[in-house]
Amino acid sequence: MPLKYQRPKYTHDLYPHAPKWQDDSERVLSTVGQFRALCRVYGYGEVRTPLFESTDLFVRAVGEGTDIVSKEMYTFTTKGGDSLTLRPESTAPVLRAYLENGLHAQGGLAKLYYVAAHFRYERGQTGRYRQHEQLGVEALGSDDPALDAEVIHLALAFFKQVGIDRLTLKLNSVGSPDSRARYLVALQDFVRPYLSEFSEEGHARFANNPLRLLDTKNPRELEILADAPHLSAYLSPEEDAHFQNLLGYLTSADVSYTLDPYLVRGFDYYTKTAFEIQSPDLGAQNALGGGGRYNKLVEELGGPPTPGIGFGIGLERTMLALQALNVITPPASGPKAFVVTQGEAGRTAGVALLSRLREAGISSDMDYGARSMGKQMKAADRARARYALVIGDDEMAQGVVQFKSLADHWQHMVPLDEAVGWFSGNKTG
Ligand code: HAM
Repeated sequence: MPLKYQRPKYTHDLYPHAPKWQDDSERVLSTVGQFRALCRVYGYGEVRTPLFESTDLFVRAVGEGTDIVSKEMYTFTTKGGDSLTLRPESTAPVLRAYLENGLHAQGGLAKLYYVAAHFRYERGQTGRYRQHEQLGVEALGSDDPALDAEVIHLALAFFKQVGIDRLTLKLNSVGSPDSRARYLVALQDFVRPYLSEFSEEGHARFANNPLRLLDTKNPRELEILADAPHLSAYLSPEEDAHFQNLLGYLTSADVSYTLDPYLVRGFDYYTKTAFEIQSPDLGAQNALGGGGRYNKLVEELGGPPTPGIGFGIGLERTMLALQALNVITPPASGPKAFVVTQGEAGRTAGVALLSRLREAGISSDMDYGARSMGKQMKAADRARARYALVIGDDEMAQGVVQFKSLADHWQHMVPLDEAVGWFSGNKTG
């Protein structure tokens, strides 16, 4: 019989020792921890914003013609009559927070990172969910292509560190509103003779937001667009130089990349650099992460002209790739000590020992329910404990604890009042 309450479609739960790595809280948190540590190495500090923002922020920043705004937002009206939206992405909220908290007035760069849940009403499939988490950064305050290289290095360094080394970095420059306007005329001229073969959505994009024609997944439209003009031919000399400088920095750091002239990503805010990191181990949803520059966005949100660049990495997809590659991640470790007792006196001593161990910061546990010592030992194994600390009748009589190493099966008596100190005196890892 199905359970009365189930989680909403295309969402998932995280819990310890889950068979799917994307659900395994220990593996997921260790991956997030590696991202946080790496961000600190690169000089980024954590930013957190609310789960919801005014709807208008996303409409304005992400763009009305995008799939996200036109189809995927979880929007609701509050009792006070305001329209709010569960954030579908974090670039707009982070920039809003940057302005609202006066970070722009502090001078210099603001280098921010986030670990954040996002909500998009998507048709779910493997790697595509209605709630997903991103590991992201936004670096604000410089148009230097060396900063583009830093942001891309950081994303690649993360994948390398967690053990994903099979990936492709796709790069493009989407220019500025000016160069794009020139390009879009050429793109429309190219598409016009084939327009009758385009879907209804294609027609709407042609008329309202032609750059979004390049986001299509329709096979016939893709076939036609395969010969479409390239945006790179319409860049201004300055935009072209920016892109060439970035490519130079990447090459000098031995970063390999593939140029993709049709990579425009599904947001209106990008200018100049756009990139995506793809994995061959992910199937249809192969983008592990993506990002780019948005040099006009702070201004569009009401701030002073401030260039910026960032990326978002999909945490669930990262876990899917790690599992597909079967990367050896340290198995979730159990407690260091598992207290096993016999009889009421042993149990009383065990409960006291357990609290002293925990006070000393030694991860430790016991089995509840006063079961047999055999069952308690099994519970210690199941918990993947390092040592069983046994207090049976004999040990009670002698005032000792029997330390049993569960990995290599040696055992060793320690006086009860020295049991906690034993851990600091021994190199137990
Ligand atoms: P995005 O490409 O929409 O970019 O999302 C970034 C990454 O999040 C994707 O590459 C993918 O790995 C993951 N992702 C997106 N949607 C889903 C989903 N429905 N289910 C599972 N994973 C998903 C952004 O959101 C930009 N704000 C990134 C950015 C930051 N650009 C500049 N700064």
